[in-house]
Amino acid sequence: MARVYISSLLLTLMFHIVIVAGQGPLQDFCVADTKSQVMVNGFACKNPSSVEASDFFFSGLHMKGNTSNPVGSKVTLVTVKELPGLNTLGIAMARVDYEPWGLNPPHFHPRATELLTLLEGTLEVGFVTSNPENRFITKVLHKGDVFVFPMKLIHFQRNIGNTKALAISALSSQNPGIVTIANAVLGSKPDISIDILAKAFQTSEEVINNMQLKF
Ligand code: GLV
Ligand code: MN
Repeated sequence: MARVYISSLLLTLMFHIVIVAGQGPLQDFCVADTKSQVMVNGFACKNPSSVEASDFFFSGLHMKGNTSNPVGSKVTLVTVKELPGLNTLGIAMARVDYEPWGLNPPHFHPRATELLTLLEGTLEVGFVTSNPENRFITKVLHKGDVFVFPMKLIHFQRNIGNTKALAISALSSQNPGIVTIANAVLGSKPDISIDILAKAFQTSEEVINNMQLKF
């Protein structure tokens, strides 16, 4: 009886150790080898002896993104694609530029929590919790404020000032991804059938058709 108990305890312990060991990197770094044909979750590692400082470096976030678009904002991402040293490290960066009254429209990151720091301007930000509450949590941010958008929840930011705004975000994935709600729902390729969207939004097919034409 005691033997059975001890071996099941050992098994539980081993399982725990494996889980814990799998939570973080198992080596100092794993710089992305973007040319490797090996299919893994992320990128295969470059040979550590051929890694250079430039693999851990990106330059360019001092440059304003091009906000000449219908929403008046631009997200410039620094992910594992731009900075191979991020591979396996679970973090990325973004610069977000906003014209006066520019909007970073409702979207979510399928693989990341976002921690936004406002460097210039005034932003109205918000996110919506999951069903059935769909609670809308919103706040006005000023220079130096920090706000967290929890992983996978729909969120937005709008510049509510008459000057440009600038934010920097940290994202908890090397490849956070962005799903912009309007583009995904109304601009999918091919289109989702108009009658499906009309029923989902409880509106007419004509309204949906007009919206689809914009995306
Ligand atoms: C970036 O995706 C952002 O929401 O700031
Ligand atoms: Mn975001």
